[in-house]
Parts: sequence; C-alpha cells; structure tokens
Amino acid sequence: FNVPKAVNEPIKSYAPNSPEKTEVLAAYQSMWNSKIDVPLYIGSEEIKTGNTRNMIAPHDHKHVLGTYHLADKSHIESAIANGLEAKTKWANMAWEQRAAIFLKAAELIAGPYRARINAATMIAQSKNVFQAEIDAACEFIDFLRFNVEFITQIYNDQPQSNSDMWNRLEYRPLEGFIYAITPFNFTSIAGNLPSSAAMMGNVVIWKPSDSQVYSAKIIIDVFKEAGVPDGVINVVFGDAVMITDTILASRDLAGLHFTGSTHVFKEIWSKIGTNIHHYKTYPRIVGETGGKDFIVVHPSANVKQVATGIVRGAFEFQGQKCSAASRAYVPQSLWTAIKKQLITDVKSMRMGPPDDFGNFITAVIHEGSFDKLANFIDQAKKDADAEIIVGGNYDKSVGYFIEPTIIVTTNPHYSTMETELFGPVMTIFVYEDTKWEETLKLVDTTSPYALTGAVFSKDRYAIEQATIALQNAAGNFYINDKPTGAVVGMQPFGGARASGTNDKAGSVLNLLRWVSPRTIKETF
Ligand code: ALA
Repeated sequence: FNVPKAVNEPIKSYAPNSPEKTEVLAAYQSMWNSKIDVPLYIGSEEIKTGNTRNMIAPHDHKHVLGTYHLADKSHIESAIANGLEAKTKWANMAWEQRAAIFLKAAELIAGPYRARINAATMIAQSKNVFQAEIDAACEFIDFLRFNVEFITQIYNDQPQSNSDMWNRLEYRPLEGFIYAITPFNFTSIAGNLPSSAAMMGNVVIWKPSDSQVYSAKIIIDVFKEAGVPDGVINVVFGDAVMITDTILASRDLAGLHFTGSTHVFKEIWSKIGTNIHHYKTYPRIVGETGGKDFIVVHPSANVKQVATGIVRGAFEFQGQKCSAASRAYVPQSLWTAIKKQLITDVKSMRMGPPDDFGNFITAVIHEGSFDKLANFIDQAKKDADAEIIVGGNYDKSVGYFIEPTIIVTTNPHYSTMETELFGPVMTIFVYEDTKWEETLKLVDTTSPYALTGAVFSKDRYAIEQATIALQNAAGNFYINDKPTGAVVGMQPFGGARASGTNDKAGSVLNLLRWVSPRTIKETF
C-alpha cells in the first residue's frame, strides 16, 4: 500500500488582522447569535427524540447555544443494529478507499471547516483560540493523517514466505462493534477515538461528552462530507449509565475506546468482567484516564525554564488536561527565585472569555468542576500546612472562572498533592536540597497515576537518576520541558497505573488494538 506521507499541520498564528482571526471570529459570532439542535446519528437517520438538554457557553453560562437530543434504550439498540448491518461492506472496502475518506476529512478540517470547528471548541468548551487551533484543528488533522500512515505500515508488515509456501497476515477488524466514549477537554480526542477504530474497518457507537456536543456535531458534519458511510460511526447522547449498560449487554461488543475519568473506566471494566461469559469475543479495552502529573526540579535547574514549565504545564488549557502539571517539587536553594518568577508570570496572565484573544485563561467546563476547585482553594486558605502564593479568587456569576492558583505546602501528602483536580491549581512542595533521592521516591509513590511528568536539571547524573527512579511514574516523561503538549507522530501519548492502559494514542500501538489478524499459510 502507498499513502501520502503524513506531515504535522502547521499552527496558524491568529495575529491581529490575519485572515484566520477574521474567519474564526465571524464563525464565533454567528454561532453565538443562532441556536443549533443536534440529533442522534443512527444509520442513515438523524433522530430528534424530543427529549433534549441545553448546550451552554461555560464562560457565559446563561447563554444557551442550542439543544441536543437524548437517546433511550431502543435508540442504543438500534445504533448497535445499524452498526452491525453496515459492518460487512465497510470491513470489506479496500484500504485505499477507507484511507481516502479520512485523508479527505483531514483536508476539510484544514480548510473549509477550520474556523467552525475552532469556534465550536471556543464557544462550548471555552478554549482560547490558540488552544482550539492546537486541539480541534492541528491535533485532529494530525491524528487522521498519521493514523492512515501507521495503519498502512501495519498492513504492510507481513511474515516471511518462500518459493513453495506463502504466509500472509490479514489485518481484519474486530468481530462486532467498538464503543467509543470521549471527553470534553479535547476535540481531537473526540474525533480520534471513533475514527481510529473505524479506519481499520470497525463500526463504532460513539458517545461524546455532554460538554462537547457542539464540536462533536461539526466532527460528524466533516465525516459525512468526507464520505464515511451511514452506520459506520453512530452517535448517541444521553444518560451515560443507561447507554453504557445497554451497549455492554450486547454479545457483539468487541472493544471499548475510552478517554475519561479513572473511576468511570474502572466501573465499565468491571461490568465487562461481569458480562464476560456473554460476549462472542474478549472485548479489547483501551482507556486513557486521569493524571496527577509532576514536575521535579533538581538544584542545578534553570530558574526561568522551571517557572515557564510550571506555568505552561499547569495553566494552559485551564489545567483541564489529563497531562497537566499539578504537583511540583522544588529545592529550597532555588525556591525564592522560582517563587518570584512564578508570581510575576501568573500575574501577567489575563482571564476572560475566549473571543478576546488577549485572554490566556478562560472558564472551566461546568459548575461541578468550578465548585470542586473552589472548595479545594477554600480549604487551602484555612489549612495551616498550605499557603496560596498567587491566585485563589474565583467567580461564577457570569462564567465558571477560577484564577490560576499556586498552593505551597509543607506536607508532601497534602490533599492537592494527591487528588486530581482537573483545573488551574498547582501545588508545590519545597524539599531540602540534600534530599534529592528521597524526593524522587516521593514523586513515584505519592499518586496512583502514571501519565506524564518532567524533570528539570542541568546535571546529567541527576537526569539519569530521575529517568530511572521514575520509569514507572509516567508514560510520557519530559526532560527540561513541561509535561504537556504531546504531538502526534512525535511523542506517542499515554500512561499506565491508574492513568490507563498505555496504548499510546496516535501510534501503531493503539491501532493494533483494533485489528484481529488472521494468519494464512498456503503451500504450493
Ligand atoms: N496529548 C495531550 C498532551 O500531551 C493531552 O498534553
């Protein structure tokens, strides 16, 4: 097989007077001033059940952006039936035809849909324009292009043969259907989880997050225009437990492609375990879940680099990344200088709605998230072993705004050193310089997660020590850089322990989970 070489989509600048700035703001205004009504997408039908929920803008929560329709059990059963019906034709389609559909989807996002998918991500997920561009445009495009290339590599990987014996590997899709559950925080992940499994000939039932319906609708528009046939990706909204229970009750469940919370993933895994005698095949379970991602600073580190790593790692995307840095370990000898730099950097960040491009921080996703973060901040204001050195204010009168906040604690097991908060709150523990090795142990054992982490140091022995001591503490480990911002094709992404199955999104390793190869031996 031969497909176009994948290249990463260049990030547009959105500079003043740039055409992309004008276009995205026009799309934003038009979405703001009109309302959409999003149906379920089952087979060839767009179903309006009449049972609806509102979509709101988190940075202006009284503003309704539209409605979306909720499924009941019969719709879920119908989605499964439609998927299975579409399966044979889709699975038998030549790879080049399937690949062409998803390469076309990438080009649609790069061109005519770019402003709309970015604006939808800004308006309903409250990302600033740069975050939307990196996520909804570039990363989504990269997933599509690189997955096509990776799948081609998989299909081309064939065993040895000789003149009287021909061995081949046939990379068939899984038998049954795939259930994709996607989170609010990345439009690219929402697009990638159903499409990566579908590319390999699978059919999918996709349940997007309630907080990501607007951009999910644009993703569906793109897939339809690109030529994804009816029934290949079926989209359902509604009660998560009902949807999941109905899907897990099907004998034909062949896989789960999940990004979301550790708690929900474990619940689903255990339900699949309970149903295991019922399935036609062992369902493949792939999940990317929580994180309590660390930055550990050696006394040899560069102060400016550390402060930038902490601020960008913790506060970009409002800290609503499973990869976001949320606990840091800083040596006493550097603390005064790092603290000063952190306060200066954080105070320079503006907070406000995303249509003003000068705002670096926008709102968190919903009231539940806001209240959780506000409670932890309030608690830190009261606790003797915690001190807020910058931030600490919040306001939900218009939108769910939480100031970027840094807590310093004298207790390495303080609650915010251990609990995933999923918001713009960073906690720092200052350690004695002589305790570098004990600190590495602390980093490794403090949290149940193992997603991302970073070490800052100029001392190569210290870097090596951290790399070895923290080998199981992070699936993505960064040296002298923030622990966020993995790029498809460059840093395959995922972690283990409570952070997931570590099947590296945007890599051959993930895609291999969606095939059930058949070995064929023929003798002559
Ligand atoms: N892949 C995203 C990152 O690395 C979550 O930040």
